[in-house]
Amino acid sequence: MAGNKTLTMIKPGAVKHRHIGAIVDMIEKAGFRIAAIKSVKLSHEDAEEFYAEHKERPFFGELVDFMSSGPIVAAILLKDNAVADFRKLIGSTDPAEAREGTIRKIFAISKSMNAIHGSDSDESAERESNFFFSRKELLEKEP
Ligand code: RTP
Ligand code: MG
Repeated sequence: MAGNKTLTMIKPGAVKHRHIGAIVDMIEKAGFRIAAIKSVKLSHEDAEEFYAEHKERPFFGELVDFMSSGPIVAAILLKDNAVADFRKLIGSTDPAEAREGTIRKIFAISKSMNAIHGSDSDESAERESNFFFSRKELLEKEP
């Protein structure tokens, strides 16, 4: 059964260009409830740990440099079928391939600076939520 939780990060480019409010508005209007939210500046080591699955990929260095280049906004989002529905809302990794109306189509600068992250599985959502948030920071428990 699909889980009801996903983890997002509004990435440094979108934070720098003051798109936090517009992106959070799209997320809430799409039916996701915000169970936790905060701004964080990832260290280089934090970004390497978060994206460890990609460490052999050619873009890993660029990805880690970008994700630690400025503050991000992390949030736990709740909705039925959260992981798949959120990836539909954000669109393809490369904004050139993203559907019209998706968050990446509207706010991404490039494939590397693509505005927003979404977990790729229920297991990743669990791991990534625990990476950022303690129990005390939850506004809402999972139902
Ligand atoms: P994310 O994890 O950030 O939500 O993105 P994703 O699942 O759509 O894509 P993934 O394959 O997990 O890649 C993680 C991030 O690495 C950057 N990337 N750059 N230059 C490139 O070819 C390339 N490929 C991936 C992107 O920022 C992507 O979001
Ligand atoms: Mg991914």
